[in-house]
Amino acid sequence: MAANFNNSAWFYDRLSRLVYGKAIISAQLYLIGHIKPNSKILIVGGGTGWILEEITKRYPSGLQITYVEVAAAMMSLSQKRNTGDNEVIFINDVIENVTLANDFDVAITPFLFDNFTEQTLKTVFNQIHTLLKPGALWLNCDFQLTGKWWQAFLLKSMFLFFRVLCGIEAGKLPGIVACFDLKRYNVIAERTFFGDFIVARVYGK
Ligand SMILES: C[S@@+](CC[C@H](N)C(=O)[O-])C[C@H]1O[C@@H](n2cnc3c(N)ncnc32)[C@H](O)[C@@H]1O
Repeated sequence: MAANFNNSAWFYDRLSRLVYGKAIISAQLYLIGHIKPNSKILIVGGGTGWILEEITKRYPSGLQITYVEVAAAMMSLSQKRNTGDNEVIFINDVIENVTLANDFDVAITPFLFDNFTEQTLKTVFNQIHTLLKPGALWLNCDFQLTGKWWQAFLLKSMFLFFRVLCGIEAGKLPGIVACFDLKRYNVIAERTFFGDFIVARVYGK
């Protein structure tokens, strides 16, 4: 069964701020700093949609955004966000099911992959990959393990919590970096947050 984040929508942002302070937000603000004006952007798994308002603060107009989020409760919060004069298309489905033109300048996948199995990761990754233009940016942030005991502890606790509440599939982090390497993405910029536990990377296709 695929994960269902509907149950967590109403407290998700508060909980993530409680545990990680500003790190989850800072990682995504860092990433969106790389967006160029008038870009065509694909956001997958944007959660409650606060990222839309942050992008709009940088660019109140000129962007074409396609926002794909499977959890209906997350989507309904996202649709209430201020998106200024940007063009936003909301799609309440899994990205694997969606047919879109393959001409995006930017993809944003914030904490999307961590709870996937290897198989789901591969399917979702390949789908997003095909939707990006050559030379496009892929802005990704997620958790990583760099050998500190508390990272493994926090990750296990998160997996357990979201397995009970949302039915997530994974019990360990899938090989996210390996997917980018396999398709020969370049790392254009990167920064870590929360003692290296969170990594934000700007990849170039
Ligand atoms: C861990 S949450 C991260 C939310 C947000 N990006 C944040 O940083 O707070 C992952 C989100 O991705 C959505 N999601 C998971 N798999 C998806 C898929 N295949 N297609 C679209 N959305 C998906 C979930 O419903 C959930 O809202």
